[in-house]
Amino acid sequence: MLEVKNLHKVYDGHGRRVTAVGDLTFSVPEGQFACVVGPSGCGKTTLLRVLAGLLPATSGEVLVQRTPVTAPPPGLAVVFQEYGRSLFPWLRVRENVELPLKAQGMARSDRGALAAEALAAVGLSDAHGAYPWQLSGGMQQRVAIARAIAYQPRVLLMDEPFAAVDAQTRADLEDLVRSVWQRFGVTLLFVTHDIDEAVYLGQRVIVLSASPTTVAQDLTIDLPAERDQLTTRSDARFTELRGQVYAQIQKVKAPA
Ligand SMILES: Nc1ncnc2c1ncn2[C@@H]1O[C@H](COP(=O)(O)OP(=O)(O)O)[C@@H](O)[C@H]1O
Ligand SMILES: [Mg+2]
Repeated sequence: MLEVKNLHKVYDGHGRRVTAVGDLTFSVPEGQFACVVGPSGCGKTTLLRVLAGLLPATSGEVLVQRTPVTAPPPGLAVVFQEYGRSLFPWLRVRENVELPLKAQGMARSDRGALAAEALAAVGLSDAHGAYPWQLSGGMQQRVAIARAIAYQPRVLLMDEPFAAVDAQTRADLEDLVRSVWQRFGVTLLFVTHDIDEAVYLGQRVIVLSASPTTVAQDLTIDLPAERDQLTTRSDARFTELRGQVYAQIQKVKAPA
């Protein structure tokens, strides 16, 4: 569903060259929930932007549904970290959620139905008429998730979507994303710098090294599919997996 082949990305400008991604290769099969974890500045956002067709690769290629990405691929949605900047303040919640559907030329009644269903799925039916700035940070991020769901993507990319919300809200949103994934069967690539979050959420954790970025480890998360914040996080296997990812990140931070 997603293929990243020898991806290499250099930012070049104003006399400053930054190798954001060294050499990345991995693929994500259809329907998988994969987490990408790596230190700040290792190129996670760059990777997602290339996959989303928002930024060209310097070399190598990425494919979505077997098609090389040269523009935003159809059937792909992204949820960014800065929910504040991703919603339009002058549009009501419902209008924000409907916007990508409107851009597709979908009829008003159809987009209304999809938006209502998506807002219900994130527990925000009551807020459809509000403006984003009237909502808490966690609610705004749920609106951004609803907008992604309403689009009915085959592939959902999420870039540290919960970095700016409080711990309790974050736990709720993590469970929301798991339920969305289970219910809609999307292929999900979730980027985070939080090891616990990656292990809790994913079926698989791809650990990236510090820049120049490569895949340092690719770990199957063999925890039961039914997860909850208390039971899963106190599971001995959870602790073991988290320890493995942690050790790997320590290793790539300070290469021998
Ligand atoms: N538009 C840009 N121009 C120049 N350098 C950039 C740009 N965006 C990111 N970088 C640099 O590329 C590297 C990777 O950034 P990024 O992909 O945002 O990492 P992450 O999301 O893992 O924190 C960093 O060194 C960052 O400073
Ligand atoms: Mg980032």
